[in-house]
Amino acid sequence: MSWSLQKLKVLSGQEFSLWESLLEKRTGIQLTHLQRVLLQTQVTIRMRELGISDPALYFYQVKDDQVGAAEWEILVDRLVIKETSFFRHRPSLNLVKQSIENKLNNGLLNESFEMWSVGCSTGEESYGLAAIADDCFRKRQGNFYYGVTAVDVSLPALSTAREGIYGRKSLNLLDVHEKFKYFDTLENDEYQVIERLRRRVCF
Ligand SMILES: C[S@@+](CC[C@H](N)C(=O)[O-])C[C@H]1O[C@@H](n2cnc3c(N)ncnc32)[C@H](O)[C@@H]1O
Repeated sequence: MSWSLQKLKVLSGQEFSLWESLLEKRTGIQLTHLQRVLLQTQVTIRMRELGISDPALYFYQVKDDQVGAAEWEILVDRLVIKETSFFRHRPSLNLVKQSIENKLNNGLLNESFEMWSVGCSTGEESYGLAAIADDCFRKRQGNFYYGVTAVDVSLPALSTAREGIYGRKSLNLLDVHEKFKYFDTLENDEYQVIERLRRRVCF
């Protein structure tokens, strides 16, 4: 029987615990029920793709820091949920805007304002924060600096984020004015975050 027709192997409780603790130790991720199912599925799918039938062999291959680094990256990327878009939750961004403006109005901002985008996925949230800060600071006189540090466990997501190029769907929640203000239009219905904002985000 070919690999693709074989039933997926179910991990034993002990095998599963080894994966869970490795994941928590390396990424801090504590699995939800849904992610448990995802872990079980993705580990067995990857084993099948690689033609490995022994779960212990696959586990120790991935755990091996040098040989397993690339495989670890693939697996983690498949386990996380990267759903995001620009200005996905406007009330949160409005709160950031209000907080920056309050600080500026009360003289509480001394030149530098740092933001942290944790679990930034493909960067939409991180550039959104940069856009909000940029709007606030450009309205004022003075030499303010702002920056966004953005982190994620998915390396493929970070590499998309660094390019700052998005399809129309990611910009769905923006109005025409915002699209024009924050993006350069490329060919093929793609949009790139303007350089001024890209320079402020470190992934
Ligand atoms: C649903 S996305 C949210 C993206 C963005 N923050 C937003 O709200 O639009 C969650 C992101 O968090 C990342 N993530 C999950 N656990 C993480 C961890 N322990 N450290 C860093 N990133 C993590 C995932 O890889 C995924 O890209």
